[in-house]
Amino acid sequence: MAEYNRVSECVGLITLRNPPVNALSAAVRQGIVDTVERALSDPNVKSVVICGQNGIFCGGADIKEFGSKMTGPPLIPMIHAIESANKPVVAAIEGSALGGGLELALGCHYRIAHSKARLGLPEVSLGLLPAAGGSQRLPRLIGVPAALNLITTGRHVTAAEALQLGIVDQVTDHNTVDAAVKFALSVAGRSLDPRRISTHPCPQQPDLDALFEEVMQKVRQSARGAIAPIACVQAVRAAATLPYAQGMERERELMATLFTSGQARALQYCFFAERAVGRWRMPSGARWDTSKPRPVHKAAVIGLGTMGRGITVALAQTGLSVIAVETQEKQLMEAKQAISGMLERGAKRRGVAPALDRVIYSQNIQAVADVDLVIEAVFEDIALKTKVFQQLSAVCKPGTLLCTNTSALDVDQLASETPNPELVVGMHFFAPAHVMKLLEVVYGPRSSPQAVATAMQLGKKMGKASVAVGNCRGFVGNRMLKPYIEEAFFLLEEGATPELVDQALEEFGFSMGVFRMSDLSGLDVGWRVRKGDGLVEPGTASGRSARIRQGRRYSPLGDLLCEEGRFGQKTGRGWYQYDKPGSRVARSDPWLHSFLGAYRAQHGLVARRIDHQEVLERCLYALINEGFHILDDGIAAGPEDIDVIYVSGYGWPRHRGGPMFYANMVGLAKVLERLEHYQQLHPEVPHLQPSSLLRRLVASGSPPIHKWGEVIKKLHSQL
Ligand code: NAI
Repeated sequence: MAEYNRVSECVGLITLRNPPVNALSAAVRQGIVDTVERALSDPNVKSVVICGQNGIFCGGADIKEFGSKMTGPPLIPMIHAIESANKPVVAAIEGSALGGGLELALGCHYRIAHSKARLGLPEVSLGLLPAAGGSQRLPRLIGVPAALNLITTGRHVTAAEALQLGIVDQVTDHNTVDAAVKFALSVAGRSLDPRRISTHPCPQQPDLDALFEEVMQKVRQSARGAIAPIACVQAVRAAATLPYAQGMERERELMATLFTSGQARALQYCFFAERAVGRWRMPSGARWDTSKPRPVHKAAVIGLGTMGRGITVALAQTGLSVIAVETQEKQLMEAKQAISGMLERGAKRRGVAPALDRVIYSQNIQAVADVDLVIEAVFEDIALKTKVFQQLSAVCKPGTLLCTNTSALDVDQLASETPNPELVVGMHFFAPAHVMKLLEVVYGPRSSPQAVATAMQLGKKMGKASVAVGNCRGFVGNRMLKPYIEEAFFLLEEGATPELVDQALEEFGFSMGVFRMSDLSGLDVGWRVRKGDGLVEPGTASGRSARIRQGRRYSPLGDLLCEEGRFGQKTGRGWYQYDKPGSRVARSDPWLHSFLGAYRAQHGLVARRIDHQEVLERCLYALINEGFHILDDGIAAGPEDIDVIYVSGYGWPRHRGGPMFYANMVGLAKVLERLEHYQQLHPEVPHLQPSSLLRRLVASGSPPIHKWGEVIKKLHSQL
């Protein structure tokens, strides 16, 4: 787990060996302790180099060990022993030094990094802080402001930035271990006192109190209820104001609080869930490990509106050649300009050349004849999409995968209109497609496992959280959103305001409440869908019957706003008012409040006081309940799939783990009881009727989330 060699006669070389990232498991820690001791006690050894095998220094703690009892030597004394060694210890950083890996390097006296290496303390993203001295050493090394930035965001820095910040002493383009050995020889015998970071105070910082106050305020705002970033600030404050030993004590206390918090559990669950969704499986039995993806070098995008532009950028940035097709000349010109701008800005951010020449524009669908995969993003119109798919089937070379970005249309229906339905899948991106992390890969009963594997692999290459889901109205994300939005409308009818509902949801941790979000994406989008469903009845019919449509409770509030031309931000008016169309700052609108008052009066509704708890229970439990239906229907393979979709695409607070994890934390019996309670009060609302899976889970003693699969499987095998 840590191999020892003597090189250049007097350098002890310690190599961490724990693939894939040389995580600091108990065995690795033991190996380091033993080999360091050996190097220090060998009189022929003048200096020591620590490196990792396979071009990676160390990816940090072994997160799989978090849940179990600690064994092996603890990290803090191990790093301390390295720092207090009487021979220089040099970290040779290749690949990455993250979390505990960087903390280990900070305990070394010198750090040499390869130019392609990345360094960081990402513990905050797992609900923790760098608690092996990282929160105390880094500010001492690079100063409080820079350390606060790195520790509270968890961001990784390049070797060049690490050199500039003073985290590393040297960057090399050549063999890092060789450079480190050479360096170790050159510093042998020098005094080590100035190199022991823990023995120094933090660099002087004027007006420390004001700095911490400002940072704390910023962090609180962006944390949206997450506690780890706040603890990180407190730990760095301890580094800046207390002697090292007391700072370490504070670091330990803060870590103990975080470690046992539900948030750390939720964040670690997300970490594993994101990996689990890559191991997709379909009800047919097809799986990720038995389905081989086809290579995709050249792709096409059809329709260069909002979505097509972002998809083109995402594909080109991944290194693919893209044929971008748009029938309207004016749209094509605008799209070309917009896509080039996005590619240039993206390239500038990443310090690479823009991939402008990877995109070829055309008004003619014939141009896609030799592509490996097509993503269609024309208007949401089944007749138009069917026509496009038929054209594509005639034009494309055999075997080209045909993907649709539809948000709600039936992927099976589209597939059945083509000669090769096995080549059809949905690739449901989210706007803006080159930024948003989520991709739903929608398979139908006839989609081939190879088609799903190809779309999943492409999603992964694009850096998306790709989740394979079955075909149904709204797929997973939008299907669950429907009852959530409907409950929000009902709450307005019963006496709430958009401000109250949004505040409750934003305090819960959503980046945006349902009404602010709806203003952002445009109220007309849902209006068009409801019209298509025959739900919209223009006019001002009053009374209870006007609010029952297709046999269930319906709120026409959104339709009435659209009839007024209030489409949200784009028109400057929606659930809120904005300074001008396109402006983003939502302000409370007195018109809306009197409109709600008049609406209630017209429909004989009496406003009552609604508290945040009711908002959360009605909106979130309705959404979660739909999630159980989705699991029951086999549309999502497991709760992780739903949770990844919500965390990466719908602004669900990551520190609450996703809706299904949240239900598990709240307690399934409680969720069931509250749904039953609200269902009794609102019997005309079917989505409040608890799902049979939820009932089954509660009847089976509410097993923990990783065991839900057994109950679902049992249920399916009995069907
Ligand atoms: P859009 O209206 O902005 O763009 C559609 C584009 O397709 C237009 O530029 C139009 O000229 C072009 N087009 C129409 N027929 C064409 C044809 N035969 N060949 C080539 N181009 C053609 O629409 P948007 O918002 O980009 O949506 C596209 C698809 O993506 C829809 O199915 C929509 O439901 C879906 N979607 C939209 C999301 C959004 O937030 N806007 C999110 C996820 C999916």
